[in-house]
Parts: sequence; C-alpha cells; structure tokens
Amino acid sequence: MDYFVHKNLQKFLEGELKFFLQNEVLDVDELIKANDGSSPPVLRARTVRDIAERIISFLAQIEDFQKRLFEKKKFVVQTDYMVTLDQVPDDLYDEILENDEQLEQWRDVYNTDQWDTDLKWQGEFDQTFLNNHPYVMIDTALFDDEFKFKLLSDFDDIEEVTDGVLVNGENFQSLNLISEKYQNEVDCVFIDPPYNTGGRDFIYKDRYQHSSWLSMMADRLALAKNLISDEGAFFATIDDNEKTNLTQLCDLVFGSSNFVADIAWEKRYTRSNNAKMFSSVKDGLLCYRTTDKLSLLREPRTEDSDSIYSNPDDDPRGEWTSVSYVNPASKEDRPNLVYSIENPITGKEVTHPTNAWKYSPETHSEHVEEDRLYWGEDGDYEYPRLKRFLSEVGGLVPVDIWDYEKTGTTDEASIALGHMFGEKVFDNPKPTRLIERIGRIKYNGNKLEQGYFLDFFAGSGTTGQAVMNLNREDNGNRKYLLVEMGQYFDSVLRPRLQKTAFSNEWSEGVPENRDGQPQFIKYHRVESYEDSLNNIVLSKGQSRQQALPIEELNDYVESYLLEFESEESGPLLPESAFSDPDGFELKIEQNGASREPTTVDLVETFHYLIGANVTQYWSAIHQDRKYVVTECDVDTESGVETVLTAWRRTEDINYEEEKTWFDDEFDSESYDRVYVNGESQIAQAEPLEITFREKMEESPNVA
Ligand SMILES: C[S@@+](CC[C@H](N)C(=O)[O-])C[C@H]1O[C@@H](n2cnc3c(N)ncnc32)[C@H](O)[C@@H]1O
Repeated sequence: MDYFVHKNLQKFLEGELKFFLQNEVLDVDELIKANDGSSPPVLRARTVRDIAERIISFLAQIEDFQKRLFEKKKFVVQTDYMVTLDQVPDDLYDEILENDEQLEQWRDVYNTDQWDTDLKWQGEFDQTFLNNHPYVMIDTALFDDEFKFKLLSDFDDIEEVTDGVLVNGENFQSLNLISEKYQNEVDCVFIDPPYNTGGRDFIYKDRYQHSSWLSMMADRLALAKNLISDEGAFFATIDDNEKTNLTQLCDLVFGSSNFVADIAWEKRYTRSNNAKMFSSVKDGLLCYRTTDKLSLLREPRTEDSDSIYSNPDDDPRGEWTSVSYVNPASKEDRPNLVYSIENPITGKEVTHPTNAWKYSPETHSEHVEEDRLYWGEDGDYEYPRLKRFLSEVGGLVPVDIWDYEKTGTTDEASIALGHMFGEKVFDNPKPTRLIERIGRIKYNGNKLEQGYFLDFFAGSGTTGQAVMNLNREDNGNRKYLLVEMGQYFDSVLRPRLQKTAFSNEWSEGVPENRDGQPQFIKYHRVESYEDSLNNIVLSKGQSRQQALPIEELNDYVESYLLEFESEESGPLLPESAFSDPDGFELKIEQNGASREPTTVDLVETFHYLIGANVTQYWSAIHQDRKYVVTECDVDTESGVETVLTAWRRTEDINYEEEKTWFDDEFDSESYDRVYVNGESQIAQAEPLEITFREKMEESPNVA
C-alpha cells in the first residue's frame, strides 16, 4: 500500500453511487409518470441509496483508519551499536570476554578458526586478543542495557562519533521517521532499486506492475528529496526496463531543470549469448540535483589526464600544458579580437593572416603581464600558445559514459562479496568502485569529505563499504545512512560493515590482513505498517456506546468505531506507554515469521520525531527506578536549542525529591528545553506526550 495511492475513497464511491442510481435503479420514464414520493421506483432508489451510503461510510472509515496507520510515524523497536574495540573503554573488556554470544559472533564474522599467524590468533579470545585487534567490533545487541549505557556514557558527542546509521525497516516508513532529523542534511543519495525485471531468482520483490513500481518509487523519492541539501545530488542506477519511467518520475519530483546526467555505466564487458536481440552491457545511472545552487561538478584528475602536463622551461609555477591562441573565427567575423602581438624573444610583431585571436586586447595584456605566452624553446613558434598550469586547473569535467575499467563491474562486485563471506550471500550487488566514483565527484569545486551519503535500497551494504573506503583514502569524515528491509540486514549488511572495519582484504571468508579502521555504527529496527495493523486491538463493548439509541449506534459503527475502539492499541500510542516506558511492547514480526513482543524504544523514537542530534546518554537509578536521560541539539526556526529528555516509570514518584536530585545531577536549568514523560517538578520540565503525539501524526513531508 502506498501513500500516493490514497485518493479519497468516499468521494469516489459517492460518485459511483450517483451514477449507479441514475442508470440502474431509476427508470426515468417511470419517475415521470409517478409524481408522489411513495411510488415504487422512488422507494426503491431511496432504499438502495440508504444502504449504499452506509456501506460507503463504513468503507471510508476503514480507509481513513488505514491511511492514518500507514502515515503515522513508526516506532523504533530496537537501537544498538557496533563499535570497534579501540573506542570501547577498557573497563568493559572483562565483560566482553565473558559474553559467549559476542565471542561466537566474532568467530562467525571474522572466521578466526581459519586465521594464519599474521593475524595474531592465539587460539582464544583474551585480553591480548583485544589489545591486538583494535578494529574488531562489539555488538551491543548481545549485551544488556546496563552495558550499553556504560559504553554510551563514555562519549561526549555521540552524534559526532557516529560514522554510520543503519535502519532495518521498510524505506517509506523509515524515511518518514527520520525526515525531521535529516531534512536538508544529506549531500548525496545513491540508490539501486529493484529493477522490476521479473527475474524469478531475485530474493527481493522484483516483479511489480509498472504502475505499482512507479507509485512505490514516487513515494520514496518525494520523501528522499526533502533530505537532500540544496547543493546535494541524487544518483540512481536503473536498466532499460524502467529507465523511461524513472526518468519521468525524477523530472516530476526534482523538476526537469534539475536533470544533471544520464550516465551509461558499462556494468559488464562480456556479451551474454543467451540474449535473443541485444545483450545489454550497461546500466543507466541517473543524476539529478535538488536546486540550481549545484552548478559545477568535477571529477578528480587521473594520472592519464595529468600526463600531458610538463615543465620544459622550468617555470616556477610548476607543470603546465598549452592551448592555441588562434581563434577558429575569421578576422572579419571578430574584428574586436584583431591586434598585433610582440614576440619578446625575436622582437617581431606578429599578426595572423586570416584569423582573429581568442582573447580580447585587455585579457591579452594580462597574459603578457603574467608571462603566460609560450613561443617555443627558442622563440621560434609562428604564433604564441597560452600556458595552463596543473596547479590551476580544477578536476575533470565528468563524462556520461563510465567504463568498466574505471568504475567496476557487477561480476567484480559479486566476486569481492563472495571473498568476504566465503560463499555467495547476495544476488547482484553493485561494485564499491561505482559508488566510490560517485563519492569522489566534487560539488561546486568542493570535495565531499563530510556529510551524509544515503542509500535507502541498501541491499548488502555496498554504499557503507564504499563510504568507508573513501574515508580511508583521504582521511575524510563522510557518514552513511543505510535503509534495508530484508533479512540481509542481519545476515549480510551488518557483518559486511564489521568485516570492512576489520580488514580491507578478504579471501574465502578470511581476512588477509588487520588493516582496518575505527568505526562507530548505530543501528535501528523500525515498526512496519504490517506490524501496526497486527497490533490493533479493538476494545469490546464499551458501555457508553452500548447505551446509545439504535440510530446513533448505527452512526457510531459506520463512522467512529475504529477510531474510538482502537485508542488503546499500541501503534496509536496508548496513555499507558508513558507511565512505564520500559514496559511498552508491540508484537513485531521478526525474520518474516514469528511475532515477538518487543520493547518499543520511545527514547529514540522521540529523538527522531523532534529531529534531535543526540550528544549524550546517561542512565541512573533514583527512587528504585531507572532514568534514561539524553542531551540533544535540536534545529528550530529560531536557531539550535539545547534539549534534555528524561524518561522513567512514573508510578509512586516523590516529585520533590526527584526535583532536588535531578536538577543537581543534570543541571536542568542550563537547557533551553527539558522534556519529561508524565508529571514532574524538574526545573523547566514540560510533558513530552503532547509533542510526541503531534509529531507522530504529522503528515509525511512530501511537498
Ligand atoms: C537491487 S538491491 C540493492 C543492492 C545494493 N545496491 C547492493 O550493492 O547490495 C535492492 C534492495 O532494496 C531492498 N528493498 C526493496 N524494496 C524495499 C523497501 N520498500 N524498503 C526497504 N528496502 C527495500 C531489497 O530488499 C534489496 O535488498
């Protein structure tokens, strides 16, 4: 079910009913004959209309309810962290070594049983192992909450240290949830959506009707566009099957004036002899910008392109190449570009017999002053040439054919991923080199060394690996934001990033070296629309409704029942959620099968709803209850606000005691805003329930 598909069902059905009544129920001739209201045709029409209107209003009620559930921001139902050991405080090491699940995960991800001596495996996980392997990653999902908070409270600015955020969720729902936080923050989107090829061997759904595929893409692109900054860019791979459709859609979403390029990427260099007509060796890579503030793109120079530069005259400005001074246009056509030039070596005055020069007399004088004219080693050139210095030329203008040698192929991608895992784990990954090439493009002359890369069809996590590679290459601080709904999230995407952080080379599932890099990854799971539906419970037989007279009861059932009787359902945030935040659970479908009761992460959900950049986390015990307190920065229209959020069970609190303790411990006076669940006397505290509810029900930002 998709957002844009929601037309107004009620209006549509009312129109249909009118048509039906006029054409099928009423016989106009009969009506003309009968002029009192009790004639059979009029009675018949009225009965049909009354029944139909009731059905319509009942259906409309269901539709509105579904729409509300679909559009409401979904809950975060898990937040965990994968962190390389170099960033984990030493005093947690003992606990790590005692955690068998963690050690098992390491055996599995790093394949330690197969390590050779270079990798320093001494047969067991002990302190020496931890000291020798700083880029092994712990996964907080395997530890308890206390461990997680001990780890988190060690950082002064979590937002700053976070290299990547991974979301396991359906991408419309996930983008909708994170849109407040990342609005205008993303510099580059790369997506590789299902191509809708009808291939049966695809694990993920790849067989939509063209129209459903388009509507699926339309919703997501509209949400994604709002996340991209004004100078940012959007890239999407696509094959011929849906390329025209996707191009038209992008024209619509980004505006056709924001089309940048339709790049042909040579994804393979062998032809498939199974093809009946043409064997396609390219994919399209569409590029759009969001505004015309992005007006210049450059690719880094290559050794090849630099090889034409040299310094035969030892110019102190370094290597240079030269271009002709002669204009292809004739003297008659460009009379203002006609003048004589002195060759300073021979002293001769030079003019061209037929053609003008390329530059105006003023620009020419500047060239002379800057000593930019080259007349050959002995001054024996007939006409001068203009020197262009390597230090002055920016990057290369990107071209729209990307050959496999510089960009990588799909085969290379599968082989590399196979080496990492020791077996085939994912069909059709993209090569990291393709995304690295995108990531090296300079925007308006600036190299993107910071900023977010978003991929909301993340698959096996290629974009994450590519961003890590780019950062390793130039010491950059780019961050990645990956969304994937499939089970590969756990079986491929996360382990792939763990592996990449540990070693940059793998063979048959075993690392080739310990050449890793520090990494701090936050990951979430997000409630799906199906989860929302599965958790709706209607409260039966509310006494007030039972006492209604029959006419009103009918109205109630037709139009209001769902809204009132679902009030206490988990997805719609019952009041009770706020009195015991740790005890608020939903049944969440896990790995496509069982529905497990799962604690909703209200703290993180709230952060996303208000668009918070979380800097610090604390956990404390007071009055026999756990407090989770976070410090965040929130962008508002009037600037950045510092915000404190505090969550605890509200039953039997002594508010005065709490105030004295809390204000002292967390210095609540010093924040612009303090949100607390339920009642409280904490300085500046405001209840967060109203904001939570309002933000949760806000319409998706697809303008
Ligand atoms: C073509 S694959 C992307 C492969 C990726 N570029 C790589 O290199 O591994 C498309 C991915 O999108 C995921 N996907 C499809 N529809 C989705 C949705 N609505 N929400 C989230 N993920 C989705 C699929 O599970 C699949 O993993």
